[in-house]
This record gives sequence, structure tokens and C-alpha cells, in this order.
Amino acid sequence: MQHLISMRDLQSSDILKLVSLAEKIEKGKTKPDLSGKILAALFFEPSTRTQLSFETAMKNLGGEVISVVGTASTSITKGETLADTAIVIAQYANAIVMRHSAEGSARYIADLINIPVINAGDGSNQHPSQSLLDVYSIIKTQGRLDNLKIGLVGDLKYGRTVHSLIYAMASFKPTFYFVAPNSLKMPPHFTSELKKMGVKFREHEFIEDVIKDLDILYVTRIQRERFPEIQEYDRVKNIYMITAKMLEKVKPNLKILHPLPRVNEINKDVDETPYAYYFTQAKNGVFMREAILATLLGGKK
Ligand code: NCD
Repeated sequence: MQHLISMRDLQSSDILKLVSLAEKIEKGKTKPDLSGKILAALFFEPSTRTQLSFETAMKNLGGEVISVVGTASTSITKGETLADTAIVIAQYANAIVMRHSAEGSARYIADLINIPVINAGDGSNQHPSQSLLDVYSIIKTQGRLDNLKIGLVGDLKYGRTVHSLIYAMASFKPTFYFVAPNSLKMPPHFTSELKKMGVKFREHEFIEDVIKDLDILYVTRIQRERFPEIQEYDRVKNIYMITAKMLEKVKPNLKILHPLPRVNEINKDVDETPYAYYFTQAKNGVFMREAILATLLGGKK
């Protein structure tokens, strides 16, 4: 693994290796050493968990972080291209983690520089480190990855976390239940790829129709910032809200995941149920990001 750009690039064996390393790190069985290494964190779009957990992960392993938040303080506002910015930063750091609104931006800079690039979200396209921590959370809660019934709810059109997760889980024989209003359905280029890969999926409009069957309920925020028109966002913004009452007849092993931030999709009363897993999921992100950094930067054990 040279970069981490898209879940399409990873084999199931790569995913399992990262999961196993994250687990060893969490259990204190190994501690890769990244001392002397510098990670450049370029977050041109807002982030809380992804940025801070990558920073925490790097620091936990003895490495250092230099960072840029937004474009306002960079020479991009003076007209410098993303390409020039990346070429220069690659001379200061040993790896780059970047979040950018343009789809394909991470692949674009990875092709220009010779240090590892981690895609921390490129527009609506991919968010592979999130999917890896999601997979880690799934195996921790279900004890397996194979043959799970996974509901993906909310903004399946613009949500990069779901676009990534379907590839991350595709080789583990899942059944996906896509729950979205008509205007936010999983785009056809993803569903046709799933068909080609022989992955089972069903499309629904109501959570109530599927919730009793699920092992994992993956809830997403409606991605306000991606809508061309705010009126369209207003029409769908409160379309789904999971409440504790809706969980009365679910399977006992059900876990609710959410990449966070949540806006209105999960009511506070769900937090107290045994099904809520989203805050632990965010904590799992540190272990998985340590595993990713150690793999890309070749940290000594
Ligand atoms: C997600 C993202 O940025 O795509 N957040 C995250 O990284 N945990 C989800 C979102 O913003 O809705």
C-alpha cells in the first residue's frame, strides 16, 4: 500500500491486515514507532474527528504534525495551485493527509509527489480512513465481517462515507439495505458496480421496513454543503430521525454507527440504548489511523 485514496484500491487482505494491526495497537500488543516522521494535515474542508484523530494517532506513535486548516491562511488565496502547494509540502513532510471539496483531488496530488497521500475525504467521492474505522467497528461489535445485513440511511447521494463503505464491505458478502428518499438515492454508477461485483442490495424509503432485519444501521447526515439549492436541502433535511422507540423490536446484536457529526438524524434518547455505538466508533478511529500511518510510513515495531 503506497497511498490510501479509495476503498476501490484495497483488497480484502489489505483491509484485514489493517484491522488486525489496529486491534494489536488497541490491545497494547504493538506500538509502531514513527519518531522523526512528519505528517502534513491539509484540511481545506471542515473536520473535527478526522483531523484530530489523525493528529492524535501520529503523536501517539511519536511522530509530528504540521497542519493547514482552510485555504485562507495559505498561498492558495494568492493564486497558488493545489499542485504547487502539494509539491512544496512534500518536501517538508513524510506523508500528507488531505481533505478537499474536489472529487479526485487526493489521487491528483498522489500522482505528483513521492510521499504517501491519505485521502481524508474528496468531495462526495471517498473517505477511506473512515471506512476502515467503520470496518474495525463492525468486526468489534459483530465478531465477524461476513454475511451481515447492513442498512445505510440518509444521504446516499452526496455522502462519501457510504460510497467508501460499500467497497470496504463488498467482498464480505453483505446484504445492503439502502434507505433514502428518491432524491438522495445511491447513485447508479455505484449500484451498477455492486451488481457487477455480485453484491446484494435492496432499496427502501422507510427505516421501519428494514430495521428489524439489520445487524448494522449506518446513519448519515444530509450533506447540506453539497446541495446546489438550499430549498432542496430544506425539503429533505429532517426526513429521518432514529428514536429509542423505533428500536423496540430490533435484533439484540444491532449496532448503530454514524460517522458524525449528527444533526437531527439520531435522537439523544438513542445514546442510552445498548445499540448506540457512534462515540466508540469515533474512538476506534485513533487505533485505525495509527494502523494506517504505521503501514504507510513503515513504522518500526
Ligand atoms: C464525515 C465526512 O466528512 O464525510 N465526517 C467524518 O469524517 N467523520 C461525515 C459528514 O460530514 O457527514
